[in-house]
Amino acid sequence: MNTEHECLIWWEEVHKSFGANHVLRGVTLQVCQGETLVIIGRSGCGKSVLLKTLVGLISPDSGRIWVKDRQIVGDPSAMAEAQRLCGMVFQGAALFDSLSVAENLALPYWENTDLSKGEIEERIRSLLALVGLRDVEQLMPAELSGGMRKRVSLARALADEPEIMLYDEPTTGLDPIMADAINELIRSTQDKVKLTSIVVTHDLSTVRKVANHVAMLHEGRIIFHGTPDELFASADPVVTQFIQGRADARVEVPRPELREHEIDE
Ligand SMILES: Nc1ncnc2c1ncn2[C@@H]1O[C@H](COP(=O)(O)OP(=O)(O)OP(=O)(O)O)[C@@H](O)[C@H]1O
Ligand SMILES: [Mg+2]
Repeated sequence: MNTEHECLIWWEEVHKSFGANHVLRGVTLQVCQGETLVIIGRSGCGKSVLLKTLVGLISPDSGRIWVKDRQIVGDPSAMAEAQRLCGMVFQGAALFDSLSVAENLALPYWENTDLSKGEIEERIRSLLALVGLRDVEQLMPAELSGGMRKRVSLARALADEPEIMLYDEPTTGLDPIMADAINELIRSTQDKVKLTSIVVTHDLSTVRKVANHVAMLHEGRIIFHGTPDELFASADPVVTQFIQGRADARVEVPRPELREHEIDE
């Protein structure tokens, strides 16, 4: 099918359950080369699960996933290739706490290259410069602020020279100014290093600042896929509720009788 060649990433009818919890209920979504797709949706709707299916951290129960023309579900060699292509900035900016910033960044080089100590130090310096940090090499992760940790985490993902960058909640837990700085960073990284990016977030400022396209995951399916302008103009009640941040009992609470009882008390 043509679409395989036009799109770099393609989820087709992907399902995933954890016991009785049917999280992904037939997700079909495409991401084209060079675009930044932002995936939004309420907490617990399966955004992180969806990202993790791309790098084999979670296997779908059914469906197919293409990454750069190779179908990766059930194919270990295609999956290994997808892992090589994808860099991931995890929710919570996972760094090794017992290693310094420099050691965290050096890990991919120690593991995958024969570069000398001096060459690795040079790479680390330029990666840190790319994310707007310097003179932090000797600090431990516990000595960094949340925003600095996210930057180091992004630098570490970039060390592998990925073609695809996956960001899970890059601005969550940061103050609005630091969140804006991270959004800027995602955008400038996108411009400097020709990447295809997927950003999972609740943060509408990220949608405004970095997205070419936006997809909304709701009840296990993609219920909206379009441009940011189309998102903000959408008349879909679930989309508008999310955008306006309204806690609407009709859509949000599966057992309204329980909610009424709580309110009565
Ligand atoms: N490894 C796992 N084992 C069992 N259940 C899981 C696992 N990972 C995720 N889940 C469940 O899948 C659902 C979706 O989780 P997920 O982490 O993808 O949500 P999310 O949309 O990323 O939420 P948030 O915005 O809060 O990060 C949740 O009900 C969660 O409990
Ligand atoms: Mg998540």
